[in-house]
Amino acid sequence: MRTNYCADTNESLVGKKVELVGWAGSYRDHGGVIFIDLRDRTGIVQLVCDPEHNKQAHELASTIRDEFVLKVKGSVRLRGEGLVNNKIPTGKIEVIVDELIIENKSDALPFVINDENVGEEIRLKYRYLDLRRPKMFDIFKTRSKVTTAVRSFLDTEGFLEVETPMLTKATPEGARDYIVPSRVHQGDFFALPQSPQLFKQLLMVGGFDKYFQIAKCFRDEDLRANRQPEFTQIDIEMSFCEQEDIIKLSENMMVEIFKAAGKTIKPPFNRITFDYSMENYGSDKPDCRFDLKLQDILGYFKDSSNEIFSSMSSDTKKNRIKALIIPGGDEKFSRKSIKELESFVTKFGAKGLAYFQMKEEGIKGPLLKFMSESSVESMVKDLGLKTGDIMFIGAGSKKTVLDYMGRLRLKVASDLGLIDENKFEFVWVVDFPMFEIEEGKFKATHHPFTMPKNIDAPLDEISSIAYDLALNGEELGGGSIRIHKTELQERVFKLLKISDEEANEKFGFLLDALKLGTPPHGGIAFGLDRIIMFLCKTSSIRDVIAFPKTQRAQCLMTQAPASVPTESLAELAIKVNIPNKN
Ligand code: AMO
Repeated sequence: MRTNYCADTNESLVGKKVELVGWAGSYRDHGGVIFIDLRDRTGIVQLVCDPEHNKQAHELASTIRDEFVLKVKGSVRLRGEGLVNNKIPTGKIEVIVDELIIENKSDALPFVINDENVGEEIRLKYRYLDLRRPKMFDIFKTRSKVTTAVRSFLDTEGFLEVETPMLTKATPEGARDYIVPSRVHQGDFFALPQSPQLFKQLLMVGGFDKYFQIAKCFRDEDLRANRQPEFTQIDIEMSFCEQEDIIKLSENMMVEIFKAAGKTIKPPFNRITFDYSMENYGSDKPDCRFDLKLQDILGYFKDSSNEIFSSMSSDTKKNRIKALIIPGGDEKFSRKSIKELESFVTKFGAKGLAYFQMKEEGIKGPLLKFMSESSVESMVKDLGLKTGDIMFIGAGSKKTVLDYMGRLRLKVASDLGLIDENKFEFVWVVDFPMFEIEEGKFKATHHPFTMPKNIDAPLDEISSIAYDLALNGEELGGGSIRIHKTELQERVFKLLKISDEEANEKFGFLLDALKLGTPPHGGIAFGLDRIIMFLCKTSSIRDVIAFPKTQRAQCLMTQAPASVPTESLAELAIKVNIPNKN
């Protein structure tokens, strides 16, 4: 129905006839001549309906309201002097309308499309209107370019795109499953996949060698700014590969992804171990756009006059005293702002926040009285403390201290404006521990199919061939080399206290496959939505998903989830045990 898109109507078409379609944006009646901004997904072009040029078109134009759908025929001309708008690509021209057709009308809108102050709730209710914003077109254009680049790159690398089932059994990623009742097998349920993990491993057993999928995943978990219950992974698996192969492939793919969005990045990315990351950044997804690292100062309290501190230093596995040094930072923190930082860290389990200040007259701080003079002296020397520096201290159990000091590191950097928002700092975190303790029980840090590095070590010292890619303090992706031998898999299940029965019930099909010629294999999955968030600089994952759920896991547009008719439940032999619901 069109000769070209709105934003492509430029000076090269001056004097030519064009046919355009789109939505009526702003509308201005200037003393009889009507100006309309015609908008499509590319941008806007100015239409002019002049009664002296075409009376009929002008009459019809006077009935147009916001968001009417229009088709016009007209000719392109240069705008008059002083009427040029350099802010838009079509700002030098306009289309004088010969013929106007109103393809469809629109009721009064619930909000003005481009009004940035409209609340998210109403935008999500009328998401299709929200999607008409130019910013949204840009995001989804980038998203589409990225998936095309991923497909093209992985195709060139010899990967096959394979779809795996949506109706399946529970998958092992550790979140709650979304479950789907079966009508044919009443009382039984499918689970929606938390990831294609087991199927991609089985494709390796099937000899596919290199697999990928732009895969929908479903996780019923607490939502945050970077999490959705339904999200998309770039999911990859390879046979006969090592960690190095997957890291190289991922880095090259990231280059293509960023290139598709007009950005240049340069691998190899920095690589650090999980332990290094935790000790230095207090996080397994460190933000490396700024330097501030946590320093270990437990040793300087060995000879402390305070029983609590001296006994802490006798168990370096369990305890930490960590320092965050802000060079030249003393004058930047008032007593009040230090108090604020203290109440910030107490939210994450700190009992308080001690500090040392490097004054002209020497070091000052509440903990000095517990330290020997020689320890203070060596601490100042070893850490290179200088007049004007401030150093915050966290002491307590390792897990808690690393966590809140890591958060403090981020907060201080953000408060002091130390973070370069235009930087992309990728970092691989490798050698994850195989197991972690949650509620007193050992569980797999990644999943139970991850290859251990040193299976004979004590449980809390076993590490795994697992790797995560972090970008600017967010986890972009993660993966591992998998166990491909039955004996090892059984040992890991035993260590996790998963009984043979339970293992068979949950993953019997995978265990069978391990006995039938499974090649060595490994893979990785990246959060596509998170990648797009970075490329488009959005702070919410909802902005990069066409029809997202709210933080309460609802779709405000369709009102899902919703109750279903009693007959449907009866067919499924399901009874809802909530008053006033079915
Ligand atoms: P993992 O659970 O680490 O690994 O997920 C991989 C990546 O998926 C993204 N992601 C999410 N994005 C949005 N909303 C969510 N709720 C959400 N959960 C995860 C993250 C994360 O890094 N099967 C393994 C991969 C493998 O071992 O190959 C897996 O799913 O960016």
